[in-house]
Amino acid sequence: MKKTMQLWGLFLMVGMLVFASSCKKDEVVTPAKSLYERLGGNAAISAVIDQFVANVAGDARINAFFADAAASPARLTKLRNNLINQVAAATGGSEKYTGLDMKTSHKGMGIEDSHFTALVEDLALALDKFKVPTAEKTELLTALAGLKADIVEGPKSLYVRLGGNPAITLVIDDFIGKVAADTRINAFFAAAAASPARLNKLKLNLVNQIGEASGGPEKYTGLDMKSAHKGMKITDAQFNALVEDLQASLVKFSVESRTKIQLLGALGGMRADIVGQ
Ligand code: HEM
Repeated sequence: MKKTMQLWGLFLMVGMLVFASSCKKDEVVTPAKSLYERLGGNAAISAVIDQFVANVAGDARINAFFADAAASPARLTKLRNNLINQVAAATGGSEKYTGLDMKTSHKGMGIEDSHFTALVEDLALALDKFKVPTAEKTELLTALAGLKADIVEGPKSLYVRLGGNPAITLVIDDFIGKVAADTRINAFFAAAAASPARLNKLKLNLVNQIGEASGGPEKYTGLDMKSAHKGMKITDAQFNALVEDLQASLVKFSVESRTKIQLLGALGGMRADIVGQ
């Protein structure tokens, strides 16, 4: 009887050991799927990013940042592919992200908390559109939230984003050269172009005007816009030509699109005092 009991005990132990080892084996045979696989791989991630890019393009809270990319198909495609590869690589896919690091690529843009939140909301909407389950959505958004410290710089004045007085001076020098060569409007500036002292004064006035208007310490001491353009009969087309020249100089110095739009918008506000006087 004692022997039979011992034998049963032995069987029980062996049985438990076999059960335990088979459990372990099962865990090894079916490893947890990566987030990349659970999202649906490259095709599904690409579809989400396309929807995300469309959401951002329609989002007035942040689309000014992407105006230059939106205006250039090659640049937009590059951004799209960078985003797909970045999400794929971060979630366990074999894709390689070859773009800039997040700190470098967003430096100087003055991205604020509210901009970051808006962009994450646009991504969440894209994930919802493709019915990505809550667990995967949260996992992806949490991973991206970890990049926030490298992307958000906090509010920066237009002046700082332009690069302060030295950068504004370079842009204005280039702009004056463009205006002098622009036959649509250069006749207005013939007298200034003929006098170095007068041209320097005009340059200084322009730099100080932009400096002051963009939040810098400069003080504009010239005439108000109405008095300065009195009797010139400047047309809308001529005003537009001047804005185009300034825009070309801002592009030359790689001024980021939101900053460019804000500066040109501020100058656009002076149109009524300049045109038709
Ligand atoms: C987790 C959030 C974000 C991720 C993962 C991300 C990712 C990226 C990537 C991969 C690039 C391309 C880098 C390269 O060109 O090499 C990029 C560029 C850029 N990002 Fe972000 N970004 C994020 C947040 C933001 C926010 C909040 C803004 C502004 C609202 C922003 C604005 C831009 C702009 C303007 C560019 C340059 C686009 C161009 O003109 O080519 N990003 N971002």
